[in-house]
Amino acid sequence: MAIQFHRPPFHVILPPQATLTNFCFPTDSNTVSSNTPAEGSVPPSVSGVDRDLDMTGRQTSIEAQNLDFYYGDNQVLFDVTLSVPERSVTALIGPSGCGKSTFLRTLNRMNDLIEGTRMRGTILVDGQDINDPAVDVVLLRKHVGMVFQKSTPFPKSIFDNVAYGPRIAGEKNRTYLKDLVESCLKQAALWEEVKDRLNDSAMALSGGQQQRLCIARTLATKPKVILMDEPASALDPASTSRIEDLIGELCAEYTIVIVTHNMQQASRVSHQTAFFFEGKLIEVGRTTNIFTNPDEKQTEDYITGRFG
Ligand SMILES: Nc1ncnc2c1ncn2[C@@H]1O[C@H](COP(=O)(O)OP(=O)(O)O)[C@@H](O)[C@H]1O
Ligand SMILES: [Mg+2]
Repeated sequence: MAIQFHRPPFHVILPPQATLTNFCFPTDSNTVSSNTPAEGSVPPSVSGVDRDLDMTGRQTSIEAQNLDFYYGDNQVLFDVTLSVPERSVTALIGPSGCGKSTFLRTLNRMNDLIEGTRMRGTILVDGQDINDPAVDVVLLRKHVGMVFQKSTPFPKSIFDNVAYGPRIAGEKNRTYLKDLVESCLKQAALWEEVKDRLNDSAMALSGGQQQRLCIARTLATKPKVILMDEPASALDPASTSRIEDLIGELCAEYTIVIVTHNMQQASRVSHQTAFFFEGKLIEVGRTTNIFTNPDEKQTEDYITGRFG
Protein backbone atom coordinates (compact mmCIF):
# COMPACT_ATOMS: atom_id res chain seq x y z
CA MET A 1 0.00 0.00 0.00
CA ALA A 2 1.47 3.32 -1.02
CA ILE A 3 1.61 5.73 1.87
CA GLN A 4 0.63 9.27 1.15
CA PHE A 5 0.64 12.16 3.54
CA HIS A 6 -1.70 14.54 1.89
CA ARG A 7 -4.59 14.69 4.33
CA PRO A 8 -5.54 18.03 5.84
CA PRO A 9 -3.99 18.62 9.25
CA PHE A 10 -5.74 17.48 12.39
CA HIS A 11 -7.94 20.13 13.89
CA VAL A 12 -8.30 20.28 17.63
CA ILE A 13 -11.93 19.57 18.23
CA LEU A 14 -12.29 21.64 21.34
CA PRO A 15 -11.47 25.33 21.12
CA PRO A 16 -7.78 25.81 21.91
CA GLN A 17 -8.61 28.50 24.44
CA ALA A 18 -10.76 26.12 26.47
CA THR A 19 -9.59 26.21 30.04
CA LEU A 20 -9.14 23.31 32.36
CA THR A 21 -11.95 24.35 34.62
CA ASN A 22 -12.51 21.67 37.17
CA PHE A 23 -16.03 20.79 38.00
CA CYS A 24 -16.93 18.89 41.11
CA PHE A 25 -16.78 15.16 40.94
CA PRO A 26 -19.40 13.57 43.18
CA THR A 27 -18.11 12.73 46.62
CA ASP A 28 -20.58 9.96 47.36
CA SER A 29 -18.25 6.99 47.07
CA ASN A 30 -21.16 4.68 46.29
CA THR A 31 -21.72 6.39 42.99
CA VAL A 32 -18.08 6.65 42.00
CA SER A 33 -16.45 3.62 40.49
CA SER A 34 -12.93 3.02 41.67
CA ASN A 35 -11.29 3.89 38.38
CA THR A 36 -12.72 7.38 38.05
CA PRO A 37 -10.34 10.31 38.40
CA ALA A 38 -9.98 11.88 41.81
CA GLU A 39 -12.22 14.80 42.58
CA GLY A 40 -11.50 17.87 40.52
CA SER A 41 -8.28 16.60 39.01
CA VAL A 42 -6.76 14.30 36.47
CA PRO A 43 -3.82 12.11 37.40
CA PRO A 44 -0.45 13.10 35.98
CA SER A 45 0.27 11.69 32.55
CA VAL A 46 3.00 9.14 31.97
CA SER A 47 6.35 10.42 30.81
CA GLY A 48 6.29 11.02 27.05
CA VAL A 49 2.62 11.98 26.91
CA ASP A 50 2.31 15.74 26.97
CA ARG A 51 -1.44 16.23 27.14
CA ASP A 52 -1.11 19.91 26.33
CA LEU A 53 0.82 19.21 23.16
CA ASP A 54 -0.38 21.39 20.32
CA MET A 55 -1.54 19.04 17.56
CA THR A 56 -2.37 21.78 15.10
CA GLY A 57 -0.55 21.15 11.88
CA ARG A 58 0.07 17.48 12.59
CA GLN A 59 -0.72 15.08 9.80
CA THR A 60 -3.85 13.05 10.22
CA SER A 61 -3.06 9.39 10.63
CA ILE A 62 -6.58 7.99 10.80
CA GLU A 63 -9.80 9.54 9.69
CA ALA A 64 -13.07 7.67 10.15
CA GLN A 65 -15.94 9.36 8.42
CA ASN A 66 -19.63 8.65 9.05
CA LEU A 67 -19.06 5.07 10.04
CA ASP A 68 -22.02 2.72 10.49
CA PHE A 69 -21.33 -0.87 11.39
CA TYR A 70 -23.55 -3.96 11.52
CA TYR A 71 -23.30 -7.52 12.79
CA GLY A 72 -25.99 -9.06 10.59
CA ASP A 73 -29.01 -6.80 11.08
CA ASN A 74 -27.73 -5.45 14.37
CA GLN A 75 -26.31 -1.96 13.94
CA VAL A 76 -23.67 -1.29 16.60
CA LEU A 77 -21.91 1.86 15.31
CA PHE A 78 -23.82 4.95 14.25
CA ASP A 79 -22.32 7.69 12.13
CA VAL A 80 -18.94 7.73 13.88
CA THR A 81 -16.56 10.42 12.68
CA LEU A 82 -13.18 10.61 14.36
CA SER A 83 -9.81 11.97 13.42
CA VAL A 84 -6.50 10.81 14.92
CA PRO A 85 -3.31 12.85 14.55
CA GLU A 86 -0.11 10.98 13.88
CA ARG A 87 2.29 10.19 16.70
CA SER A 88 -0.28 10.68 19.42
CA VAL A 89 -2.38 8.54 21.71
CA THR A 90 -6.15 8.42 21.43
CA ALA A 91 -8.10 6.61 24.15
CA LEU A 92 -11.51 5.12 23.43
CA ILE A 93 -13.67 4.93 26.54
CA GLY A 94 -17.27 4.01 27.27
CA PRO A 95 -19.32 1.31 28.93
CA SER A 96 -19.02 -2.31 27.92
CA GLY A 97 -20.80 -3.10 24.66
CA CYS A 98 -20.76 0.48 23.35
CA GLY A 99 -18.71 -0.48 20.27
CA LYS A 100 -15.14 0.44 21.20
CA SER A 101 -13.59 -2.85 20.08
CA THR A 102 -15.72 -2.97 16.96
CA PHE A 103 -14.60 0.52 16.04
CA LEU A 104 -10.95 -0.34 16.72
CA ARG A 105 -11.19 -3.43 14.51
CA THR A 106 -12.58 -1.40 11.61
CA LEU A 107 -9.25 0.46 11.53
CA ASN A 108 -7.29 -2.51 10.22
CA ARG A 109 -10.22 -4.46 8.83
CA MET A 110 -10.09 -7.14 11.50
CA ASN A 111 -13.89 -7.27 11.33
CA ASP A 112 -13.53 -8.75 7.84
CA LEU A 113 -12.73 -11.98 9.66
CA ILE A 114 -16.19 -12.02 11.27
CA GLU A 115 -18.92 -13.36 9.06
CA GLY A 116 -22.00 -11.29 8.32
CA THR A 117 -20.50 -7.90 9.14
CA ARG A 118 -21.02 -4.84 7.03
CA MET A 119 -20.05 -1.20 7.25
CA ARG A 120 -20.85 2.11 5.65
CA GLY A 121 -18.67 5.18 5.67
CA THR A 122 -15.03 5.81 4.95
CA ILE A 123 -11.81 5.10 6.81
CA LEU A 124 -8.67 6.79 5.64
CA VAL A 125 -5.28 5.73 6.97
CA ASP A 126 -2.53 8.06 5.86
CA GLY A 127 -4.98 9.36 3.30
CA GLN A 128 -5.79 5.96 1.81
CA ASP A 129 -9.27 4.49 1.78
CA ILE A 130 -8.55 1.18 3.50
CA ASN A 131 -11.74 -0.41 2.18
CA ASP A 132 -10.76 0.24 -1.40
CA PRO A 133 -10.76 -3.12 -3.23
CA ALA A 134 -7.18 -2.43 -4.33
CA VAL A 135 -5.89 -2.42 -0.75
CA ASP A 136 -3.81 -5.43 0.27
CA VAL A 137 -5.23 -6.36 3.67
CA VAL A 138 -2.03 -8.10 4.75
CA LEU A 139 -0.03 -4.96 4.08
CA LEU A 140 -2.68 -2.87 5.80
CA ARG A 141 -2.41 -4.99 8.95
CA LYS A 142 1.36 -4.62 8.92
CA HIS A 143 0.91 -0.88 8.70
CA VAL A 144 -1.83 -0.87 11.35
CA GLY A 145 -0.75 -3.43 13.94
CA MET A 146 -2.85 -4.71 16.81
CA VAL A 147 -2.31 -5.79 20.39
CA PHE A 148 -5.13 -7.65 22.13
CA GLN A 149 -6.37 -7.84 25.68
CA LYS A 150 -5.19 -11.38 26.11
CA SER A 151 -1.56 -11.72 25.13
CA THR A 152 -1.24 -14.10 22.25
CA PRO A 153 2.34 -15.34 21.99
CA PHE A 154 2.90 -18.22 19.58
CA PRO A 155 4.17 -21.48 21.11
CA LYS A 156 7.62 -20.70 19.80
CA SER A 157 10.79 -19.17 21.19
CA ILE A 158 10.96 -15.53 22.22
CA PHE A 159 13.19 -14.84 19.21
CA ASP A 160 10.88 -16.62 16.77
CA ASN A 161 7.85 -14.74 18.05
CA VAL A 162 9.39 -11.38 17.25
CA ALA A 163 10.90 -12.56 13.97
CA TYR A 164 7.61 -14.16 12.88
CA GLY A 165 6.15 -11.30 10.85
CA PRO A 166 9.31 -10.39 8.93
CA ARG A 167 9.97 -14.10 8.19
CA ILE A 168 6.45 -14.57 6.85
CA ALA A 169 7.13 -11.57 4.64
CA GLY A 170 10.18 -13.40 3.26
CA GLU A 171 13.00 -11.95 5.36
CA LYS A 172 15.82 -14.50 5.68
CA ASN A 173 18.89 -12.45 6.52
CA ARG A 174 19.97 -13.69 9.94
CA THR A 175 21.95 -10.63 10.93
CA TYR A 176 19.09 -8.36 9.95
CA LEU A 177 16.61 -10.48 11.93
CA LYS A 178 18.90 -10.62 14.96
CA ASP A 179 19.28 -6.84 15.00
CA LEU A 180 15.58 -6.33 14.40
CA VAL A 181 14.57 -8.67 17.24
CA GLU A 182 16.95 -6.88 19.59
CA SER A 183 15.74 -3.42 18.67
CA CYS A 184 12.06 -4.40 18.92
CA LEU A 185 12.56 -6.05 22.30
CA LYS A 186 14.39 -2.93 23.46
CA GLN A 187 11.58 -0.70 22.21
CA ALA A 188 9.09 -2.90 23.99
CA ALA A 189 11.12 -2.60 27.22
CA LEU A 190 11.66 -6.36 27.42
CA TRP A 191 15.24 -6.82 26.19
CA GLU A 192 16.98 -6.69 29.57
CA GLU A 193 14.69 -9.39 30.92
CA VAL A 194 15.06 -11.84 28.05
CA LYS A 195 18.36 -11.16 26.27
CA ASP A 196 19.98 -14.26 27.79
CA ARG A 197 17.16 -16.62 26.92
CA LEU A 198 15.94 -15.68 23.46
CA ASN A 199 15.62 -19.34 22.55
CA ASP A 200 13.38 -20.17 25.50
CA SER A 201 9.69 -20.65 24.90
CA ALA A 202 7.62 -17.48 25.00
CA MET A 203 5.00 -19.40 26.92
CA ALA A 204 7.29 -19.42 29.98
CA LEU A 205 7.17 -15.62 30.28
CA SER A 206 4.90 -13.88 32.77
CA GLY A 207 1.64 -12.30 31.57
CA GLY A 208 3.14 -8.83 31.57
CA GLN A 209 6.23 -10.01 29.68
CA GLN A 210 4.08 -11.85 27.15
CA GLN A 211 2.12 -8.69 26.49
CA ARG A 212 5.34 -6.73 25.91
CA LEU A 213 6.52 -9.55 23.66
CA CYS A 214 3.33 -9.16 21.61
CA ILE A 215 4.07 -5.46 21.35
CA ALA A 216 7.61 -6.28 20.18
CA ARG A 217 6.16 -8.70 17.62
CA THR A 218 3.87 -5.97 16.35
CA LEU A 219 6.77 -3.49 16.14
CA ALA A 220 8.77 -5.97 14.05
CA THR A 221 6.40 -5.52 11.13
CA LYS A 222 7.24 -1.79 11.17
CA PRO A 223 3.74 -0.41 11.68
CA LYS A 224 2.85 3.26 11.72
CA VAL A 225 -0.26 2.73 13.82
CA ILE A 226 -0.71 0.45 16.82
CA LEU A 227 -4.20 -0.47 17.97
CA MET A 228 -4.46 -1.73 21.54
CA ASP A 229 -7.63 -3.31 22.89
CA GLU A 230 -7.49 -3.20 26.69
CA PRO A 231 -3.84 -4.28 26.58
CA ALA A 232 -3.35 -4.15 30.34
CA SER A 233 -6.71 -5.26 31.69
CA ALA A 234 -5.49 -8.78 32.46
CA LEU A 235 -2.25 -7.59 34.08
CA ASP A 236 -1.15 -6.83 37.63
CA PRO A 237 -0.57 -3.17 38.62
CA ALA A 238 3.22 -3.27 38.08
CA SER A 239 2.89 -4.77 34.59
CA THR A 240 0.09 -2.33 33.79
CA SER A 241 2.33 0.52 34.75
CA ARG A 242 5.09 -0.80 32.46
CA ILE A 243 2.66 -0.96 29.54
CA GLU A 244 1.51 2.59 30.25
CA ASP A 245 5.12 3.84 30.37
CA LEU A 246 5.77 2.00 27.14
CA ILE A 247 2.85 3.76 25.45
CA GLY A 248 4.43 7.04 26.55
CA GLU A 249 7.67 6.04 24.83
CA LEU A 250 6.14 4.57 21.68
CA CYS A 251 3.94 7.55 20.90
CA ALA A 252 6.99 9.58 19.90
CA GLU A 253 7.15 7.37 16.84
CA TYR A 254 3.81 5.61 16.43
CA THR A 255 0.16 6.58 16.33
CA ILE A 256 -1.62 4.70 19.09
CA VAL A 257 -5.32 4.07 19.58
CA ILE A 258 -6.12 2.35 22.85
CA VAL A 259 -9.39 0.98 24.17
CA THR A 260 -9.56 1.02 27.93
CA HIS A 261 -12.33 0.73 30.49
CA ASN A 262 -9.99 2.27 33.04
CA MET A 263 -10.49 6.00 32.98
CA GLN A 264 -7.46 6.74 35.09
CA GLN A 265 -5.45 4.91 32.48
CA ALA A 266 -7.09 6.81 29.63
CA SER A 267 -6.24 10.08 31.31
CA ARG A 268 -2.65 9.01 32.03
CA VAL A 269 -1.71 7.78 28.58
CA SER A 270 -3.67 9.77 26.03
CA HIS A 271 -3.62 13.13 24.31
CA GLN A 272 -7.13 12.74 22.99
CA THR A 273 -10.10 10.86 24.45
CA ALA A 274 -13.19 9.67 22.62
CA PHE A 275 -16.27 8.74 24.62
CA PHE A 276 -18.58 6.16 23.03
CA PHE A 277 -22.07 5.33 24.23
CA GLU A 278 -24.47 2.87 22.63
CA GLY A 279 -22.56 2.87 19.35
CA LYS A 280 -22.33 6.62 19.04
CA LEU A 281 -19.30 8.81 19.48
CA ILE A 282 -20.70 11.23 22.02
CA GLU A 283 -17.67 13.45 22.35
CA VAL A 284 -14.00 13.60 21.45
CA GLY A 285 -11.46 16.13 22.58
CA ARG A 286 -8.29 16.79 24.43
CA THR A 287 -7.99 14.34 27.29
CA THR A 288 -7.66 17.04 29.94
CA ASN A 289 -10.84 18.71 28.67
CA ILE A 290 -12.82 15.50 28.51
CA PHE A 291 -11.88 14.68 32.09
CA THR A 292 -12.33 18.11 33.58
CA ASN A 293 -14.71 20.05 31.41
CA PRO A 294 -16.57 17.91 28.88
CA ASP A 295 -19.15 19.49 26.62
CA GLU A 296 -21.71 16.73 26.93
CA LYS A 297 -23.71 15.79 30.00
CA GLN A 298 -23.44 12.08 29.09
CA THR A 299 -19.66 12.32 29.10
CA GLU A 300 -19.68 14.03 32.47
CA ASP A 301 -22.03 11.41 33.90
CA TYR A 302 -19.80 8.62 32.65
CA ILE A 303 -16.47 9.97 33.77
CA THR A 304 -17.84 10.88 37.17
CA GLY A 305 -19.03 7.31 37.61
CA ARG A 306 -22.79 7.90 37.47
CA PHE A 307 -23.14 4.96 35.11
CA GLY A 308 -21.09 2.44 33.23
N1 LIG B 1 -18.53 -10.98 16.81
C1 LIG B 1 -19.70 -10.37 17.12
N2 LIG B 1 -20.86 -10.80 16.62
C2 LIG B 1 -22.03 -10.20 16.91
N3 LIG B 1 -22.14 -9.13 17.71
C3 LIG B 1 -21.01 -8.64 18.24
C4 LIG B 1 -19.73 -9.23 17.99
N4 LIG B 1 -18.79 -8.52 18.64
C5 LIG B 1 -19.44 -7.54 19.28
N5 LIG B 1 -20.78 -7.61 19.05
C6 LIG B 1 -21.81 -6.70 19.59
O1 LIG B 1 -21.49 -5.38 19.18
C7 LIG B 1 -21.74 -4.46 20.23
C8 LIG B 1 -20.44 -3.70 20.51
O2 LIG B 1 -19.51 -4.62 21.04
P1 LIG B 1 -17.99 -4.26 21.28
O3 LIG B 1 -17.48 -3.55 20.08
O4 LIG B 1 -17.30 -5.50 21.69
O5 LIG B 1 -18.09 -3.23 22.51
P2 LIG B 1 -17.01 -2.80 23.59
O6 LIG B 1 -15.67 -3.11 23.08
O7 LIG B 1 -17.26 -1.33 23.80
O8 LIG B 1 -17.36 -3.57 24.84
C9 LIG B 1 -22.26 -5.26 21.41
O9 LIG B 1 -23.66 -5.20 21.39
C10 LIG B 1 -21.77 -6.66 21.10
O10 LIG B 1 -22.66 -7.62 21.64
MG1 LIG C 1 -14.18 -4.38 23.87
